[in-house]
Amino acid sequence: MPVALVLLLAFTSLLIRGESNNDLCKENFKLDPRPHSVSILEFGAVGDGKTLNTLAFQNAIFYLKSFADKGGAQLYVPPGKWLTGSFNLTSHLTLFLEKGATILASPDPSHWDIVSPLPSYGRGVELPGKRYRSLINGDNLLDVVITGDNGTFDGQGAAWWEWLETGTLNYSRPHIIEFVSSKHILISNLTFLNAPSINIHPVYCSQVHIRKVLIETSVDSPYVLGIVPDSSDNVCIEDSTINVGHDAISLKSGWDQYGINYGRPTTAVHIRNLSLKSPTGAGISLGSEMSGGISDVAIELLSIHSSHVGVAFRTTRGRGGYIRNITISDVVLAGVDTAIVADGHTGSHPDDKFDRDALPVVSYIVLRNFTGEDIGLAGNFSGIGESPFTSICLTDIHLQTHSESWVCSNVSGFSDDVSPEPCSELMSSPSSSCSAGGSSIYGGDTATQLYSW
Ligand SMILES: *[C@@H]1O[C@H](CO)[C@@H](O)[C@H](O)[C@H]1NC(C)=O
Ligand SMILES: *[C@@H]1O[C@H](CO)[C@@H](O)[C@H](O)[C@H]1NC(C)=O
Ligand SMILES: *[C@@H]1O[C@H](CO)[C@@H](O)[C@H](O)[C@H]1NC(C)=O
Ligand SMILES: *[C@@H]1O[C@H](CO)[C@@H](O)[C@H](O)[C@H]1NC(C)=O
Ligand SMILES: *[C@@H]1O[C@H](CO)[C@@H](O)[C@H](O)[C@H]1NC(C)=O
Ligand SMILES: *[C@@H]1O[C@H](CO)[C@@H](O)[C@H](O)[C@H]1NC(C)=O
Ligand SMILES: *[C@@H]1O[C@H](CO)[C@@H](O)[C@H](O)[C@H]1NC(C)=O
Ligand SMILES: *[C@@H]1O[C@H](CO)[C@@H](O)[C@H](O)[C@H]1NC(C)=O
Ligand SMILES: *[C@@H]1O[C@H](CO)[C@@H](O)[C@H](O)[C@H]1NC(C)=O
Repeated sequence: MPVALVLLLAFTSLLIRGESNNDLCKENFKLDPRPHSVSILEFGAVGDGKTLNTLAFQNAIFYLKSFADKGGAQLYVPPGKWLTGSFNLTSHLTLFLEKGATILASPDPSHWDIVSPLPSYGRGVELPGKRYRSLINGDNLLDVVITGDNGTFDGQGAAWWEWLETGTLNYSRPHIIEFVSSKHILISNLTFLNAPSINIHPVYCSQVHIRKVLIETSVDSPYVLGIVPDSSDNVCIEDSTINVGHDAISLKSGWDQYGINYGRPTTAVHIRNLSLKSPTGAGISLGSEMSGGISDVAIELLSIHSSHVGVAFRTTRGRGGYIRNITISDVVLAGVDTAIVADGHTGSHPDDKFDRDALPVVSYIVLRNFTGEDIGLAGNFSGIGESPFTSICLTDIHLQTHSESWVCSNVSGFSDDVSPEPCSELMSSPSSSCSAGGSSIYGGDTATQLYSW
C-alpha cells in the first residue's frame, strides 16, 4: 500500500468562485489541496482489467462522503485498468486518475442502472422511456474535480454502438460522465476514449470548467458526441482536442414541450482554443434540442478539420425557444463539407404532442474571422418561413470553396469582407446589431472588441 505516495498526491479542491457571472475561462486557475486522500486500493479494487470494481468505487465514495464538511477528500486511482459499472460521486470530492490509470467501463448492460429520463427531454433521447445511468454520475453536487495526470476513461463503446445500429438496445445509451443539477465542477487533464454515446454531459449545472481533455472515438461510432452543455450556465471549455464520429461540442437545452416547460436555458458559455474533428457531424453545434433557449455564447480560436460541418445551428418547428447572442470568431477550417449551417428543419420530436406553433427564434449571430481551405459549400442557411433567422452577421470570412454558392432561404443579415460573396439575403451593410452577439460579456481576448462599424 503506497501510503506515502497517496499522501503526497493529496490534491486539489476547487476554489469556489462567487455566484456572479464571472467568465470561468478568464479566471486564474487555482486548486486548493484536499485535506484527505484515499486510494481505491484501500477498498479492495483490482486493476487487472477483469475484476469488476463497481463496489470498491461505491464504497470509497460512501466513505469519502463523511469528509464533505471537513474540506472534502480525494479518491486516488493508481496506474492499472479498473473495470467498473456505473457509480455516483459526492460533493467536495476530487477523483484523480494517475498517469497510466484507466477506468474501463463494463460492457455488460446489467452493470448499469436504469434511470428515469431527464424532465427537459421527457423520454430517452434514442428510445422512448428510460435510459442507462452514466458511468460516472453527479446528482445535486457541489465542488467536484475530476482530474489527473492524463489518466483515461475508456467507455468500451463498441458493444453499445452495435446494439444501437442493430436495433437491439433496450434503453438509451449511457454517457461517460454526467452531472445533473450540480455546481462548481472541474474536469481536466484527462483522456476519454470510446464513449458509448456522449462523453461529458453537464445538465442543469452552473460553473462548469472543462480544460485540457482529449476525447476520441473511432470514426464509425454512431452518434457519439464530445461535450454537451445542456440547460447549463457559466460554462468554460478550453484547450482541448475532440475527435468523434458526431458533433464534437453541442449546446442543448431540452426537447420540444418538455424543454419549453422545464424552461432552463444554456447561457453564459465561453469556448476557446479547441481542435475539433467530426466526420459525420459538426465541430460545434447549437441544437437541435434548444427548447429552453441558448444565449450569450462566445466561441473563439477553433481549428475544425476533416468534418462534415464546421459550425451548425439546428432547430425545427415545435422546439420553441431561441438561439441568440452568439459570437463565433477566429475559426480555421480545413476539409469541411459545409462551413456554416443554419437549418430550421432538422431534428425529430419526442412524441406527437409537440406544439407545431412553437416556433424557435434564431437571431443575433455574429460569425467573424473564419478562414478555410478545401471547403465544399461556404454556408447553407435555411430558416423557417414563419420565423426567419434574422440579424446574422458575417464578417471577415474567407473560404476556399469547391462551389461559389451560399444557399439561403428565410434568413436575413449583414456581411462585410466575405468571400465567396454571400447570398443577397446576407448582403445588407453591417449595422449596430452586429455587435450584439454576446461578445461584450463573455468574449475572450479577441472577442471583447466591439465592431467599429
Ligand atoms: C446514485 O444516485 C442516484 C440519484 O442521486 C440514487 O438514486 C442511487 O441510489 C445512487 N446509487 C448509489 C449506488 O448510491
Ligand atoms: C494523454 O494520453 C493520450 C493517450 O492515452 C495521448 O495520446 C496524449 O497525447 C496524452 N496527452 C498529454 C497532454 O500527455
Ligand atoms: C434487451 O432485452 C432483451 C430481453 O430482456 C435481452 O435478451 C437483451 O440481451 C437486451 N439487450 C441488451 C443490449 O441489453
Ligand atoms: C493539469 O496539467 C497542467 C500541466 O499540463 C497543470 O498545470 C495543471 O495544474 C494540471 N491540473 C489541472 C487541474 O488542470
Ligand atoms: C491551446 O490549447 C493547447 C492544448 O490543447 C495549449 O497547448 C495551448 O497553449 C493553448 N493556446 C492558447 C492560445 O491558449
Ligand atoms: C483570425 O483568426 C486567426 C486564427 O485563430 C488568428 O490567428 C488571427 O489573429 C485572427 N485575426 C484577427 C484580426 O483577430
Ligand atoms: C441546405 O440545407 C437544406 C436543409 O437541411 C437541405 O435540404 C439542402 O439539401 C442543403 N443544400 C445543400 C446544397 O447542401
Ligand atoms: C421560406 O419558408 C417557406 C415556408 O416554409 C417556404 O415556402 C419558402 O419557400 C421559403 N422561402 C424560400 C426562399 O425558400
Ligand atoms: C445580448 O447581449 C447584450 C450585450 O451584448 C445584452 O445587453 C442583451 O441583453 C443580450 N440579449 C439577449 C436576448 O440575451
